[in-house]
Amino acid sequence: MGRFDSFYAAPYALLEKAIKKHIKNKWIILDMGCGDGVIEELISKHHQGCVIHCVDFSAEELAKLKEYPETEIVKHHSDIHEFLKTNQIKFNAIVVNTVLHEINTPSDQSNYMRTFYDLCHQNMLEGGKLIIGDHYFPPEVPDDLVKEFRKFQLASIGHADLREKFVNPEIILTQVRGFRFMHQKEIVSGKGIDRRYYVFVLEREKSQ
Ligand SMILES: C[S@@+](CC[C@H](N)C(=O)[O-])C[C@H]1O[C@@H](n2cnc3c(N)ncnc32)[C@H](O)[C@@H]1O
Repeated sequence: MGRFDSFYAAPYALLEKAIKKHIKNKWIILDMGCGDGVIEELISKHHQGCVIHCVDFSAEELAKLKEYPETEIVKHHSDIHEFLKTNQIKFNAIVVNTVLHEINTPSDQSNYMRTFYDLCHQNMLEGGKLIIGDHYFPPEVPDDLVKEFRKFQLASIGHADLREKFVNPEIILTQVRGFRFMHQKEIVSGKGIDRRYYVFVLEREKSQ
């Protein structure tokens, strides 16, 4: 094991607990930036009869999605924002895992999160659950160490996002509107650096 190894199993285990507890059978769910389908596998493991709308702008990733007897998978080859602006379905749940940092605007995280919450609110039923998972580096972690970690990550997985792209947990909470806070859990997800992974569960409130 190298100095900075990342532990991907632990974040998915934390997300799985939230999916098990907060998603229900027969729900209509949006998976924003579904990637190769880990979330579809986790939902199918714990719930029956869900319909999952999987949105990703990568056709290559969408092609990797598997089929599950318990679940209906509907693929959407689209940018997340374009999808949310035109979609007519009201979801029971939206899952957005390790994607916020890819769609975030580094120059103005708070403004970005307000737009994100408004779009999620428009696309959900009252009482629906918004499940957000992502990584971040706490402010105490020196920039030089993050730069060193990014080099390691680039060499091991082929990409490494800028520190400023990650949405810190206080921004998730301070910018929230239209949702009620329900649950937050966090773990250290790397070795050699304090890189963290959080899961938030928020409940959609009534429209004003
Ligand atoms: C790090 S992967 C996460 C995959 C999955 N959510 C998971 O937890 O395993 C991020 C995914 O988001 C997709 N993505 C990033 N920005 C996007 C956007 N603006 N619109 C649609 N998909 C996007 C990428 O193509 C990629 O498949």
